Amino acid sequence: MSLYAIGDLHLHFQSELKAKNQIEDKIWQNHEAIFKENCNNVMTDDDTLVLVGDHSWGKNLAECEKDLEYICDLPGRKILLRGNHDMFWDAKKTDKLNEMFAGKLEFLQNNYFVYADYALVGTKGYTFEGPFYLDQYGYIQGWDEAEAEHAEKMVKRESERLIASFEAAKADGYKKFIMFLHYPPTNILQTNSIYTKIAEQYKVEQVIYGHCHGESRFHDSIIGKKRRIKYSLVSGDFLRWKPMQILK
Ligand SMILES: [Fe+2]
Repeated sequence: MSLYAIGDLHLHFQSELKAKNQIEDKIWQNHEAIFKENCNNVMTDDDTLVLVGDHSWGKNLAECEKDLEYICDLPGRKILLRGNHDMFWDAKKTDKLNEMFAGKLEFLQNNYFVYADYALVGTKGYTFEGPFYLDQYGYIQGWDEAEAEHAEKMVKRESERLIASFEAAKADGYKKFIMFLHYPPTNILQTNSIYTKIAEQYKVEQVIYGHCHGESRFHDSIIGKKRRIKYSLVSGDFLRWKPMQILK
């Protein structure tokens, strides 16, 4: 029995493909078949796979039907987190999704799931990604104050959702946590954030996140051990479509 994770499958069996890199980059060619084969090679039905968001390009549930069917057909238990592109998933209607897909898929948002003696907690997260850029001397340029303010509100809301997930697990007596986010816990300007602080406060063993895809973004946030917590990026193209083993 093992716990695996991956993110950013960006499936589009029924919907329009919107990302240029997904059309041009070699890593995305036939990625649905490659990922399925990799899962079947390493996973069994006793395993659990957490998919950390950006499952589908579909604009609504009807447009995601085949994408979610593809995920249902992967081996093992599947737990899904909400990504910024998952338009089919209304954050306030997660219970409804859990009812609709009962026995097939589990949706992680304002709740938690159990794996062995661990509570799997998580939320989409959020981090300010601009508009801003670093010039050749490392100075921040093009900072958009209005966008930064909006981002602050999003970060606050998502951190509250994350705490709700932790508190639900804690109230049921869980003491060991793996924390999942779609967005990275920090942006390229930060060394810590409200998310790293929450992770430290609840003494999580690992933080798993996606969202950063395309080679230029792979090192936007923390990878490896920091203050006794292991941080892992699991975006699909970063993992070359091999699910990452999180726990044995
Ligand atoms: Fe993505």
